[in-house]
Amino acid sequence: MTMKLNEKTYWVGKIDNRKVPFHRLILERGTTYNSYLLMTDKPTVIDTVDIAFGREFVDNLQKLINPKEIEYIVINHVEPDHAGALPALAARAVNAKIVTTELGSQLLKDMFKLHNREFIIVNDGDTLDIGGRTLKFFETPFLHTEETMITYSVEDKTLFPCDIFSTHIACEELFNDLARGEYLEDFKVYYKLIMGPHRPYVRNMLKKIMELDIDVIAPSHGYILRKDAASFIKLYDEMSSTGDKLKKAAIVFSTMTGNTAKVAQKLAEGLEGNGIATSVFNLKNADIQEVIQIIRESDGVLVGSSTKYADMVGKVEELLKELKGIKAEGKLAAAFGSYGWSGEATVHIESYLADAGFRVVNQNYLVANLGVNEQLFPLRVKFDRQEGLETAEKAGMVFAELMSGN
Ligand code: FEO
Repeated sequence: MTMKLNEKTYWVGKIDNRKVPFHRLILERGTTYNSYLLMTDKPTVIDTVDIAFGREFVDNLQKLINPKEIEYIVINHVEPDHAGALPALAARAVNAKIVTTELGSQLLKDMFKLHNREFIIVNDGDTLDIGGRTLKFFETPFLHTEETMITYSVEDKTLFPCDIFSTHIACEELFNDLARGEYLEDFKVYYKLIMGPHRPYVRNMLKKIMELDIDVIAPSHGYILRKDAASFIKLYDEMSSTGDKLKKAAIVFSTMTGNTAKVAQKLAEGLEGNGIATSVFNLKNADIQEVIQIIRESDGVLVGSSTKYADMVGKVEELLKELKGIKAEGKLAAAFGSYGWSGEATVHIESYLADAGFRVVNQNYLVANLGVNEQLFPLRVKFDRQEGLETAEKAGMVFAELMSGN
């Protein structure tokens, strides 16, 4: 099955009526994997379909084009429901260059043994002339995974945002103006489950696309939004806004040489940069009871300490013992600290935080809740090394993201 979006663009995806498991959901209404072929002078495929349908996808595509004529394959997102048919396509589209982000290229090479293929790495705002049409790319990390980007066809005023603006529904009519039933609730549920946990990144994405003239949104699941496309952008704007309540975080720490203070500062920058009002306390100069009151009023807390003789320093342990007395359920918490040799302080802090009833953000938590594989928490920075401080800022951003989605 193929379908035309405009003069040069064909839908070449797959409608999947199965109730398949997906990110711990069952897709009760099925889904689609939308792939697009742009029949320009340099024919281009944008995203593929689920790994289960690779051969069918390529057979279908061959009804429109000899795969050897395909010049570019754009991969916006590497998850197997979109990039899964890439090996099958690449095997026949032997002349095609694969267009994706730097991280996307690394992942695709490893996942699909594509080390010998030519990749074109694109960065935010880059363009690509595909012979009669211009594609513009925007990096949209964590929507839905870290490597993700979106593609805008300038002349057609069409946005290909992959997972973003998607709906899980096996809609044979494909276009939202032809929808036979209600789909807005499914659109919102999809946002809440897949995009909502990454709210700060949704805000960043919206800033990028607000400047674009968009007539059609052609996502990779569910309806192609050619009727009232702007209303769906507005809906994302509304659903991702923080409302009236500004979330608050408290960062408290003790430091021996000042390095843990630098880590705290970078965490604060990451949090503040993502819309979290953040208070920072060096326990050396703070009243413990005042700090506890601030923690009570905060939505998240980060507790830091240098490590000395395999233990915490300063007043951190005194504070942690007191925290057992507050109602911490639901509050997110994490441990951090600079170290020289071992860095055990963060392990002790985590243990106290868990005992006090906080939801401790550590690597398992990040994998389970955001799909972030990088070791960010507990945050251990060796001395004040630059790469460690950069990680601290990123950890602050990710903590902010968790707080926003909480
Ligand atoms: Fe539709 Fe993140 O995959």
